[in-house]
Amino acid sequence: MEVKRYTNNTIAEIELPRPFDGHGHPRRDELLRLVGPMMAKRFASGIVMPNTKPPITSRLVASEYRDDILHSTDHRFSPLMTLYLTDTLDPAELNEMRTWGIYGVKYYPKGLTTNSDSGVFSPSSLWTPGTNAFNVLRKLAEEGGVLLLHAADGFDKNNNELDPYDQEPHFIRESLPRVKDAHPDLKISVEHLSTAVGAEFMFKNGGYKLGCSITLHHLTKDRRDVFRGGFRPHLMWWPIIQPAEHKEAIQALAIADKRFVWLGTDSAPHPVSSKRADCCMGGVLTHHMALEGYVEAFEDLGALDDRFERFASINGPKFFGFPPSIKTITLVREDWTVKNSYLTEGLQEEIIPFRYGETMRWKIQD
Ligand code: DOR
Ligand code: ZN
Repeated sequence: MEVKRYTNNTIAEIELPRPFDGHGHPRRDELLRLVGPMMAKRFASGIVMPNTKPPITSRLVASEYRDDILHSTDHRFSPLMTLYLTDTLDPAELNEMRTWGIYGVKYYPKGLTTNSDSGVFSPSSLWTPGTNAFNVLRKLAEEGGVLLLHAADGFDKNNNELDPYDQEPHFIRESLPRVKDAHPDLKISVEHLSTAVGAEFMFKNGGYKLGCSITLHHLTKDRRDVFRGGFRPHLMWWPIIQPAEHKEAIQALAIADKRFVWLGTDSAPHPVSSKRADCCMGGVLTHHMALEGYVEAFEDLGALDDRFERFASINGPKFFGFPPSIKTITLVREDWTVKNSYLTEGLQEEIIPFRYGETMRWKIQD
């Protein structure tokens, strides 16, 4: 990473290969038209989540969605598509997946997050021979694709409903080892790692076959922020933001310079009425400032050096099996203010973005 400093040694400017977003929800239609340019401004490429309405469950629909994203980003962003793992997804949809621009299959536990109604009913399907999910994962390993995990369990082995703060730890302890053992050749990415249990598992088991993405919100926010003065719907995501000790474990993993750890925003916009609602939807827009926020976070952690470049631009592409961008992006130390909301022509409702109204101290040089 190229770094320019002021005479007092403070970093003034950084230049790095254009980053990769390991996990994004650019949505479709009007929302995509808002989000596409934001993504393309910051990222060379990114993994696109398939939990649209309806979900992406075929190569044909994935390639239509891919075309829409290319159009919305003026071909300045490479969308790497995923298919939604359902109990009926046809393994034949994975035939020659890479030639269709599809890099992986996403596991959603049914009912545990936004648009997860089509998700897998029982996590044990992932490791039980004969189930549809098992057959899909077999095929996925053969094709060299990646299994992307929303690593959360809803129930324990006695069918007691889990506390939401325990959903990820339970999956990491009980389900992930079983998935790994059942599919030894499969590459697995644990998405939006959010807990100390997850970080510890990664330190022990991460490598060529197992990696994880880290969001900006799990890296910088903790439960105190979510409940300061009352519940903050614009900090509500699945998996939920954990107590501070978990954030600290995620920070330690992010700056440990491990090749199996990379940036993944989980930018997930919702209209304001779905956030200020009886049942607040998980997900918030971060594509408007994500890269700038990660730079700030790494600087605050004393790690704004080559470790950041590997986290943001190198590790993800290598894991998914394509070269990092040969283009570069430059960020300069300059204050700017995040908008309070976005409302573009065609959008019915405002979108309230992450850190609305706050000052950012890094800016992308146009
Ligand atoms: O908070 C979340 N929002 N978590 C997810 O897993 C899905 C996402 C969305 O699509 O809104
Ligand atoms: Zn997501």
